[in-house]
Amino acid sequence: MFSVIAEDVTKVFREGREDVPVLKGASLSIASGEIVSLEGPSGSGKTTFLSILGCLLTPTSGRVSIAGETIEAKRPAQLQTIRRRHIGFVFQQFNLFPALSALENVEYALNLKGVSGKAAREQAEALVERVGLADRARFLPRDLSGGQKQRVAIARALAADPSVLLADEPTANLDSRTGAGILELMKEVNRSSGTTFVFSTHDKKVIAKADRLVRIEDGHVRRLGVRAADRWVMVKERRRAERA
Ligand SMILES: Nc1ncnc2c1ncn2[C@@H]1O[C@H](COP(=O)(O)OP(=O)(O)OP(=O)(O)O)[C@@H](O)[C@H]1O
Ligand SMILES: [Mg+2]
Repeated sequence: MFSVIAEDVTKVFREGREDVPVLKGASLSIASGEIVSLEGPSGSGKTTFLSILGCLLTPTSGRVSIAGETIEAKRPAQLQTIRRRHIGFVFQQFNLFPALSALENVEYALNLKGVSGKAAREQAEALVERVGLADRARFLPRDLSGGQKQRVAIARALAADPSVLLADEPTANLDSRTGAGILELMKEVNRSSGTTFVFSTHDKKVIAKADRLVRIEDGHVRRLGVRAADRWVMVKERRRAERA
């Protein structure tokens, strides 16, 4: 099963009177449970592409499908539903609510999903513990380190039990050791829940944790390498497709 499929995705931004094409036919298929690292020079469209995969932005043209649901260009209302159902997003700047504690930030994400009261509190506590922050649950974001804030952001993204977790430079504001810890956490989630991960990064240590590396270049997605684990996934997927 593919968890994410992007086919011939284009994105044109309008700047004043000019159309600026950023994505020019980007295609990428990601198997369920894969960890894909996305790289590319600054301005190449990594954030744009992740935002489209994450249903934060509609493509100008092309087709995107997430967990079997197809996103059509020009139907923004559809995005929120698909996003809430399937996607977790982690941003470089953490984007936590400053007035809410670590626990409340996670709880709020559960409320959005329709979980409330005691159930939300208990699930939030479990998620905060899962990312190793049980002893910081009542802290406000300003009293947390960068790595701890990013852990809260991951706990919040996991609140929706997403099939796909997208992270835009999740380690860019962290030192290399903390960044590696964040990736270790993502890998642990990947192993235990089968969550698909796509993250953009410039950090070589982080890139090394991926099953597969892709690069955005001139508006297209280029494969950089297939590792053994990835090949195995593809063989397994192909056999399953043949049986179906
Ligand atoms: N809302 C917007 N309106 C106009 N242009 C935009 C918009 N968002 C992005 N762009 C342009 O699209 C291009 C790609 O931007 P994007 O943020 O996707 O790049 P990136 O690969 O994430 O770069 P970085 O590594 O610096 O984060 C840039 O030239 C940017 O100026
Ligand atoms: Mg970016």
